[in-house]
Amino acid sequence: METLLIRPQDIAKAIELVGIDTLMDKTIAGLTEAFKEVNRGQGELRTRAGFVKKPSCACVEWMPYMRKTDQSVTVKVVAYQPDNIQTIGIPTVLATTSLYDFNNGHLVALCDAVTLTAIRTGAASAIASKILANPDSATVGLVGAGAQAVTQLHGLSRVFPLQEVLVYDINPDIARSFSSRVAFLGLSIRSCSLDELERNADIICTATSVDEGADPVITGENLKPHVHINAVGADIIGKTELPLSLLKRSFVCPDFPEQALLEGECQQLQPEEVRPSLMEMIERPEEFYHWREQQTVFDSTGLAIEDHVALSIMQELVQAHGLGQRLQLEYYPNDPYNPYEFITSSLQHPPAARQEALAIVD
Ligand SMILES: NC(=O)c1ccc[n+]([C@@H]2O[C@H](COP(=O)([O-])OP(=O)(O)OC[C@H]3O[C@@H](n4cnc5c(N)ncnc54)[C@H](O)[C@@H]3O)[C@@H](O)[C@H]2O)c1
Repeated sequence: METLLIRPQDIAKAIELVGIDTLMDKTIAGLTEAFKEVNRGQGELRTRAGFVKKPSCACVEWMPYMRKTDQSVTVKVVAYQPDNIQTIGIPTVLATTSLYDFNNGHLVALCDAVTLTAIRTGAASAIASKILANPDSATVGLVGAGAQAVTQLHGLSRVFPLQEVLVYDINPDIARSFSSRVAFLGLSIRSCSLDELERNADIICTATSVDEGADPVITGENLKPHVHINAVGADIIGKTELPLSLLKRSFVCPDFPEQALLEGECQQLQPEEVRPSLMEMIERPEEFYHWREQQTVFDSTGLAIEDHVALSIMQELVQAHGLGQRLQLEYYPNDPYNPYEFITSSLQHPPAARQEALAIVD
């Protein structure tokens, strides 16, 4: 049995063939359906675990999802390394997703997940915003203008009639370079002060590499009465982006309550202050539309089911277009009881050096 290797060049080719908007739309639709599957008990989620370096919050973590319908297990290993860009010029978030056959443990696919993580995170915010944000939202404010900001905006642009994008980053160079990274969207992008952003945005996305224990990345003052916030950057114990006063007065919807209470914005709240999760809202969105008039927060911590969906879509595209590389990665000896089978002949006829060693032992 072979493993399908999906490399960055395969993902690039697949995106070239179907278009980046189609991929985002498929991810939004796929995630919506997958959340419903979990509600029906057809999938099982576990909270993430990992190793974290203090005080930077740099980490390597693993996140699993088991899908009962096709007996598959998806595990994403994700690294958050905020020094990467400055020290070695590679992204802050690195990830690979593995897909296993739950019937036998075979590694079915192994896929680069740098771009897919960003896409599925943007898709999740688009879904939450579609339920909780004012449908006429025209101005988006992005706090933190790095990699995730690109897909936050892309996802929102697929479901809202956006007219203006306001950008704030503590590093003005990154804020300035943002417009060139999202030129494909054809939107009006303007870098501005945090105060101007907070006053004018209908939807705000916070996606920063804020340090553990640092001040909130927005003040939460002078926000529009109906503002919806996608809080994306809090995903480790002690690392949060929003002021407590804002969370206390808002409708706070987590992606996965158990995980959000541990590592999301919800770690600042008591469990009883946390409202229904995105997965619950998706079943009966109309019941939550009245919150569109008030301040709402989507606490996005990131789930392996999202990675499962992103991988499934990419796997299908790669297979349909003959992309990817098939490799025999696992060892299947003819005698399953003999893990040394491939060296049996050398054990029977030891090379000279080994014969000498054996002689010394004798
Ligand atoms: N929720 C999820 O599913 C999910 C998925 C991926 C990444 N993330 C998180 O999203 C965050 C952003 O990731 P990224 O890949 O965009 O990182 P990145 O390094 O590409 O960008 C982060 C940006 O935040 C800016 N920043 C830091 N502190 C700030 C502050 N106080 N105010 C304004 N800007 C600030 C930095 O200058 C940088 O430009 C990280 O915290 C990461 O852990 C969450």
